[in-house]
Amino acid sequence: MGKPRIFSGIQPTGDLHLGNYLGAIRNWVEGQSHYDNFFCVVDLHAITVSHNPAALAADTHSVAALYLSCGIELEHASIFVQSHVSAHSELAWLLNCITPLNWLQDMVQFKEKAIKQGENVGAGLLNYPVLMAADILLYDTDKVPVGEDQKQHLELTRDIAARLNYLYGTEEKPVLKLPEPVIRTEGARVMSLTDGTRKMSKSDPSDMSRINLLDPPDLIQQKIKRCKTDSVRGLTFDDSERPECSNLLTLYMILSNQTKESVTQKCADMGWGQFKPLLTETAIAALKPIQDKYYEIMAEPGYLDHVLKQGRERAEAIANPTLAKVKAALGYSMPL
Ligand code: AMP
Ligand code: TRP
Repeated sequence: MGKPRIFSGIQPTGDLHLGNYLGAIRNWVEGQSHYDNFFCVVDLHAITVSHNPAALAADTHSVAALYLSCGIELEHASIFVQSHVSAHSELAWLLNCITPLNWLQDMVQFKEKAIKQGENVGAGLLNYPVLMAADILLYDTDKVPVGEDQKQHLELTRDIAARLNYLYGTEEKPVLKLPEPVIRTEGARVMSLTDGTRKMSKSDPSDMSRINLLDPPDLIQQKIKRCKTDSVRGLTFDDSERPECSNLLTLYMILSNQTKESVTQKCADMGWGQFKPLLTETAIAALKPIQDKYYEIMAEPGYLDHVLKQGRERAEAIANPTLAKVKAALGYSMPL
């Protein structure tokens, strides 16, 4: 038996931020040697909201380079671009045809995004989780490490797989494997710097609401200096009245690799004037190795293209047979 398989992905829409790193990529890195990993840059998902064609390719490369700079190792992982492996779109279509419409209409993320877009909601936004299910199911994935916000999409993925198995498989020979979500509690929901009740997000119009992985030190300093706090003296975790405070303490705790107890003790009597420089220094130091590696990778001509080509080949070797299996189960004839 080989190692269990992991699949995950991030959209190349806007800059990756601390939420993406702490909620997703950091977890991929930590466990990578125990798994056979597929990390995808999900560029087909990126066009479910309006996008800029002139930036799409560069953003896609940038996310792939950030996977590597955050510590993903090619010895354990394949890194590839979703649109390079056509099986993703094809399986998404097949799955769309067995997915009840009301399952998709019930997705929280769809409802939230649909409200934001008003009348301009594209069908892609509704079908987005079906494409995500195709991503995962193509690889006979065992585990999917994601942030808390993706939990519902993972449940839907399992429901779609179970439905296809029920309709077109047998109990002894299921067509698709049901994946498990992996959601770590710490860092699973990094909140916005300007509103501690909303998650840090690429789509927030204010760049001051997030720390991007490639922000230079002076910008990080400025963002933390201006971030929202409160006027209570002493810093405490888990006080629901103080969402900004627990978010900033959690960021400090994770980025400095300390335990909750030690941070609780250390910061109990601090004011913001003392804490903010500490968090600033910690964030800058934590991001420096990632940034150095990123610029090194981007400066090496052809390197990233080579990584993505190899990733695509490895991905296709698994995805294409799974797609063929699904098509056969649905009754399609194979071309000669
Ligand atoms: P996205 O930015 O929506 O493409 O998300 C990519 C990955 O980052 C997913 O696994 C998300 O769950 C995770 N993620 C995004 N924003 C946050 C956040 N604020 N806190 C924790 N995880 C996040
Ligand atoms: N929907 C995910 C997000 O916004 C991105 C994604 C697409 C994904 N396909 C995936 C995550 C497959 C994990 C597995 O975060």
